[in-house]
Amino acid sequence: MVNKKMRQQILQALIDSGDVVSGETLSRQLGISRVAVWKHIKKLQAAGVSVVSTPAGYRLESGPDDLQPWAFPGRQDLIHYFQSLPSTMGKARELARQGAAHLSVVIAGTQAMGRGRLDRSWHSDPGGLYFTLVLRPELPVVHSSRLMFAASLSLALVLRQAYGVDARLKWPNDVLVDGRKICGMLSEMEAEGEWVRFVNLGIGVNVNNDPAAMVSQAVSLKALVGRPIARGDLLRQFLDRFADQLDDGLGQRLINDWKGLCATLGKTVRIVTPRKVIQGKALDLDGNGALILAQDDGGLVHVAHGDCFHADCASAQS
Ligand code: BTN
Repeated sequence: MVNKKMRQQILQALIDSGDVVSGETLSRQLGISRVAVWKHIKKLQAAGVSVVSTPAGYRLESGPDDLQPWAFPGRQDLIHYFQSLPSTMGKARELARQGAAHLSVVIAGTQAMGRGRLDRSWHSDPGGLYFTLVLRPELPVVHSSRLMFAASLSLALVLRQAYGVDARLKWPNDVLVDGRKICGMLSEMEAEGEWVRFVNLGIGVNVNNDPAAMVSQAVSLKALVGRPIARGDLLRQFLDRFADQLDDGLGQRLINDWKGLCATLGKTVRIVTPRKVIQGKALDLDGNGALILAQDDGGLVHVAHGDCFHADCASAQS
């Protein structure tokens, strides 16, 4: 336990510095010998932490696939990385209740009990990108779903612009390529009266994992572009884009941009909610992001929540 705490302190010193830290500095800070520092560094390296030894001392090195805090300069205090978790949702809720800052990111290398929407499970094999954002917007509860629109739009734009895939959006917040699901999202919220206290957005992206082995209507980014993808690069680009999107605001422009990439509008769809199934032609989104459906009797209905099935593709990845 003492050794583990020591290693955590060494790691923290390297993270805080963002540069080379001499063995002498570490030995002074921790009150241990330089040889003891060196032994702890060896243990960290054996545990997969990329610490490099240089003539001037030790430095953390990040590769493009790394998801640890030091791979996110400028954001490292917001990144909580775990090799494995039951689900990032549970850990994010715990951290949010303890006061985790806006735009904190809880990442897991794998999840033993990854959760999907409507109580489905989300297979979370190594190679995928699994994270939950803790958000503290000044937003009334009625507008909280706009955060999901902002996140799915941001991810689709990164996939299109940085990886050249034809990412589209399926209402309410799946990202599809050629009708196959590459990303799913779910949200949890706590409120104070009419206002959001925090919203946690859970995002699962099929990157280097093979979801098609489990679900035929799912696809990975690796399969689409024909090479392994660095998850750290993808997440950094997403976080930048999403932060810009929040700065731009969550108004009608966001809904319009989202509609521009939407694969649902114009299609005949089935919306499944815990209470009922609604069928109709998807005509438009209203200002709150609810789907406007034309039903067979000609009546219009606004649907705020539910799982959407396009006539030509499946919705769930589980
Ligand atoms: C869905 O489409 O059903 C939503 C899937 C959401 C999966 C992500 S992975 C990270 C976060 N943690 C979870 O347990 N679920 C979400």
